[in-house]
Amino acid sequence: MRIPSSQFQSLETPCYFYDLDLLHQTCEAAQKQSSKFGYHIHYAVKANYNDRILGITRDYSFGADCVSGNEVLKSIEVGFNKADIVFAGVGKTDKEIEVGLNSEIFGFNCESYQEIEVINEIAGGLSKTANISLRINPNVDAKTHHHITTGLEENKFGINVWELDDVLELVHRSKNLKLIGIHFHIGSQVTDLSRYVELCHRVNDIQKIFDDKGIALPHLNVGGGLGIDYVNPIAHPIVDFESFFKVFNQNLEVRHGQEVHFELGRAIVGQCGLLITKVLYEKVGKKKHFLILDAGMTELMRPALYQAEHLITNLSAQHEEHQQVYDVVGPICETTDAFARDLKLPKSKRGDLMAIHSAGAYGQVLSNKYNLRDDVRVVYSDEI
Ligand code: LLP
Repeated sequence: MRIPSSQFQSLETPCYFYDLDLLHQTCEAAQKQSSKFGYHIHYAVKANYNDRILGITRDYSFGADCVSGNEVLKSIEVGFNKADIVFAGVGKTDKEIEVGLNSEIFGFNCESYQEIEVINEIAGGLSKTANISLRINPNVDAKTHHHITTGLEENKFGINVWELDDVLELVHRSKNLKLIGIHFHIGSQVTDLSRYVELCHRVNDIQKIFDDKGIALPHLNVGGGLGIDYVNPIAHPIVDFESFFKVFNQNLEVRHGQEVHFELGRAIVGQCGLLITKVLYEKVGKKKHFLILDAGMTELMRPALYQAEHLITNLSAQHEEHQQVYDVVGPICETTDAFARDLKLPKSKRGDLMAIHSAGAYGQVLSNKYNLRDDVRVVYSDEI
């Protein structure tokens, strides 16, 4: 894929560009491969809650995985089926729990003993029954960046296996709760599929604890986290959903009639977004040659926050054979505001258009107004 810069020449930068054709193709691939095994996908709204992106994921009949009351309300507003909305998150407020209950969503993924007590109490007050799944910490190392690892005992997420007896006793005596399943999530940007094999084995073991207690679980939610290719997104715009779902088909022991749910975010929307930016200035130091862009950590925070590396291409450079090593940085008054250090690029100059790839997930939604920046602009492939 070589993106013609003429397409972007008239755009005011910095701006997010979404390739909606690619998003459709990605959703189609995910749907096709998951439905082979009767699996259900809930799109992880947190990855990108932009209305048009949500609308497209909804059209592929994905459910919505939400982590705030506002995400629940937004998902309903854009037309997701209420019965396909899950509300997860380690710190749901009382008000958000009421939103979930009053919206008659599919259920809550619960992360602690105390949260379960509170949901039962609030549901009682509203004369409702809350469907709950227990998020269990599988203690599986996702082997991803430690800032986006969630499935280890040292992380704040989920209920530990050694807490289960107490939690199940609580659920048993809570009149306004119905236990409908168990939930797991090991972390994000997981590219080593063996991590999911290990997760399946843990889930199989944990299911036996419920079998022994005679507790049936209609739903198994194995989370999300499937990683994308940040190094070569042009060659791999769509992740290998086939291999991913096969891992579960081959390793997960599903009980008769049990539904298997996934919560994918990045793998669905990550590659369809580009951050388009212009070179403002070149600055040549003794040791460094800086390219200063008009986009910074305020538009795309991932490099500053997680040392994430995104492919950067110069859309204007004609002569790729003339290369130069640059530190590609943003305009924000922070040293961490850098997209790449010591990166070889075609010789670039003021006014050149640059694309920062794989910015569809956790890009626009993490943007902020630090330094009183403008709101980030957005443009879609069917508009230019
Ligand atoms: N389910 C749960 C319980 C999660 O915590 C997450 C992501 C997902 C599903 C979706 O994960 P995905 O399929 O998108 O990997 N801002 C970070 C990623 C944070 C992930 C938070 N949880 C980043 O830019 O890498």
